[in-house]
Amino acid sequence: MERTRWYKDAVFYQIWPRSFCDGNGDGIGDLWGVLEKLDYIASLGVTGIWFSPLYPSPNADFGYDIADYRSINPEYGDIDVFRRVLDGAHERGLKVIMDLVVNHTSSEHSWFKESRSSKDSPYHDYYIWRTGGERAGVPIPPNNWDSLFEGRAWEYEPALDEWYLHIFAKGQPDLNMDNPCVRAEVEEILRFWLDLGVDGFREDVITFTSKAEGLPDDYLMVSGARGLRFYENGPRLHEFLAQFRDNVLVHYDCMTVGEAPMITPSKALPFIEEGPNQTLDLMFHFEHMGADCLFTDYVPLPFSLRRLKAAFDRWQHKLDGRAWNALYLENHDHPRIVSRYGSEAFREKSAMMLACSYLFQKGTPFVYQGQEIGMVNTRFSTIGEVPDVSAKNQYAKRIAAGDTPEKAMELVNRAARDHARTPMQWSDEAHAGFCPADVEPWFAENPNYLEINVARDEMDPNSVLNFYRKAIRLRRALPVVREGSYRAYKRASGVLYVYAREMADERLLVLCSFADHDVRFRVPKGYGLEEGALELCNYESEGITLPMGGRVTFRPYECRVYRFGKA
Ligand code: GLC
Ligand code: CA
Repeated sequence: MERTRWYKDAVFYQIWPRSFCDGNGDGIGDLWGVLEKLDYIASLGVTGIWFSPLYPSPNADFGYDIADYRSINPEYGDIDVFRRVLDGAHERGLKVIMDLVVNHTSSEHSWFKESRSSKDSPYHDYYIWRTGGERAGVPIPPNNWDSLFEGRAWEYEPALDEWYLHIFAKGQPDLNMDNPCVRAEVEEILRFWLDLGVDGFREDVITFTSKAEGLPDDYLMVSGARGLRFYENGPRLHEFLAQFRDNVLVHYDCMTVGEAPMITPSKALPFIEEGPNQTLDLMFHFEHMGADCLFTDYVPLPFSLRRLKAAFDRWQHKLDGRAWNALYLENHDHPRIVSRYGSEAFREKSAMMLACSYLFQKGTPFVYQGQEIGMVNTRFSTIGEVPDVSAKNQYAKRIAAGDTPEKAMELVNRAARDHARTPMQWSDEAHAGFCPADVEPWFAENPNYLEINVARDEMDPNSVLNFYRKAIRLRRALPVVREGSYRAYKRASGVLYVYAREMADERLLVLCSFADHDVRFRVPKGYGLEEGALELCNYESEGITLPMGGRVTFRPYECRVYRFGKA
């Protein structure tokens, strides 16, 4: 089968299955629920679904700790219902990509159970085991690396007198990708799902899979974790990815998007530059998310529009003509974007403006469940309400450092990934319509579901939901969004983000205000707004002010998209 670059025309919708829709009434989202919502997903105008992990998992990290790569978590369904979802998606023109998590497995995976059973097991070398030292009769770990989730990166196994490496939680032992048998397993996993008909993979922290030779001690703390610089973008990464490409991926018309914390455009290009050496189609970088590495820089930097724009511009320019961007503002690892970059006081306006800020850039956009109705952060009073291992660990660290519980909770409320993981808000019925009224959802819904929900947005032509639909349709209808070059205006402004997409006979101007007050500004030269066709505006129903003498006034969080002919 010939490989095409179909992903360049795609718009993906990300499902974090546990919180999407409970179809069998046990309070946990599942694939039966997804089946019910396929028409809804298609109605957004998206063309693909990315599923966060659906595999059996003890949920140390909610599915990112996989116990079996070839089946479906019984909480979510089974292979048969997965097939029905896949067929149903394909019938509606939706591609399906799976999450591939091969930096680590669950400690409950049979490989790891074998691996820790004996040094002679053929599986022992599937993981990264080392002997440590000893100080005053107490075993000390092989090196000084930190785990990104739980204390140090090593766990001691007394029966073997060895330590295993876990960059993430203790229940997520790192695979030893240097072992050719492990790479052969990865190939088999890829083939299994591709043969079943899936269309590609989002590859979880794939840039962590090659560790520096000798696993040296780290005396520089980069991005808040010792060791990080010794496995981020490591020495054999390119070789591993080339093997998966040559032995498996080239034989299918599939796509890959690699998750790459801390990656910069120049570090990304060797992987994604189109040509014979390309090993990934797309990469998720973090440079616009306000932190290098969300796991270590736990509390993101205060929002700065200039920094956000600089990251957007850098990726748009550096990849232009060479590689393709992956565009996103939300996923299951970050607080909600309206609460971070927009304004809860101007929730709907800022949600729509944020949609415009990225949906018309060059690249393939991803929309995260709930983003399309402008869901916002929730509020946690005690750490007991917060399910995520990372939040629990950060909380414990702050308490150990002397913070009061109130202060530690302040940080958790600013940074927790859990904000993005509350149940999807379908209606104003009990539990937001996520699960039956008489069942407790696995995680409390955000109490604001009475106002923020899909059913309500469906009835309002000016809702956030219908704005997303219009924006996605517009993006897909206009060749300039796929092909045009990118040019940023107002680069020094701390309140406006203005960019144009330009090609020979069509141009697009996107204007976004990040201010909670009126802003008056001069429109860019060559873009007399009265000559353009206004394609999209988040104040449509309230009337639009036209420019006077080249100046225009934007209301709080206003955004507009204009289309122009030849310059
Ligand atoms: C990725 C996932 C995140 C997970 C981590 C470890 O960053 O997006 O949710 O916790 O990898 O698998
Ligand atoms: Ca369920």
